[in-house]
Amino acid sequence: MQREQQQPVLITGSTSGIGLAIANSMARAGHPVMLHGLASVEQGEDLQRQFRAEYRVDCGFSNADIASEAGCAQLVADTREALGNPGILVNNAGVQHTADAHGFAAEHWHNILAINLSAAFFLSRELLPGMRAANWGRIVNISSVHGLVASQQKAAYCAAKHGLIGLTKVVALENADRGITANAICPGWVETPLIQPQIESIAREQSIDIEAARAQLIGAKQPLAQATKPEAIGELVLYLCGEFASTITGASLPVDGGWTAQ
Ligand SMILES: NC(=O)c1ccc[n+]([C@@H]2O[C@H](COP(=O)([O-])OP(=O)(O)OC[C@H]3O[C@@H](n4cnc5c(N)ncnc54)[C@H](O)[C@@H]3O)[C@@H](O)[C@H]2O)c1
Repeated sequence: MQREQQQPVLITGSTSGIGLAIANSMARAGHPVMLHGLASVEQGEDLQRQFRAEYRVDCGFSNADIASEAGCAQLVADTREALGNPGILVNNAGVQHTADAHGFAAEHWHNILAINLSAAFFLSRELLPGMRAANWGRIVNISSVHGLVASQQKAAYCAAKHGLIGLTKVVALENADRGITANAICPGWVETPLIQPQIESIAREQSIDIEAARAQLIGAKQPLAQATKPEAIGELVLYLCGEFASTITGASLPVDGGWTAQ
């Protein structure tokens, strides 16, 4: 079914990195966008001004902290106030912390699970009834190659990202008869602030420069040793929300330079 008007989209963690690129792709295509992330109200207003000027779409902003169920409810309330009920949800916000499992602090474990996995569940649960009533909806979960394979020192991240793929499949099955699709995107290395600390730590530990550390980090896992541009993920989300993707559901799509083909 083709929509007459572009549906509003809520993109979590869209003040930075991949989420911001997704917001740009969706707004360029005419979707009203709900921007969200841990930024100040002033930064949020600046971002909204840029989006309105560049794309002439409605937009809103929320800096609700989605590490709790109450924060997720706040984000949904802010979104409905700004744009009405969103027909598209992109669960993108995520955090990372690396340590061996035998020394992984509980605080980091809970935080990663809350933001990278539980928030996607709470937001889907809130928004699915509206999508089901409309007989149309799109949920795109930004998982990771670490939803498909493991790396050392990423116990919480791998657990959350594998869990997100499981959640995606259940939501896809439960809503297949209502014009709603749910898919996961599984990026390898993407050029964003999230991977910067990992590059800096390699540079520090091996006393090499940042570029050499970047090449080492990416080449260690990806046969095609090139980081993906955030814009590439934005365009894939747009495709998954479009007419030609109406039968793609429950899928986990790697964008990983061959990482998981090995
Ligand atoms: N960068 C990569 O190489 C890569 C690879 C695979 C998957 N991913 C996934 O892509 C997603 C986006 O990553 P990114 O690299 O763009 O990260 P980023 O650090 O650039 O952006 C993260 C966004 O999430 C928001 N956020 C974090 N904690 C929050 C909280 N408690 N409440 C509300 N918002 C919060 C931040 O404000 C920001 O907008 C994440 O889920 C990440 O796991 C990234």
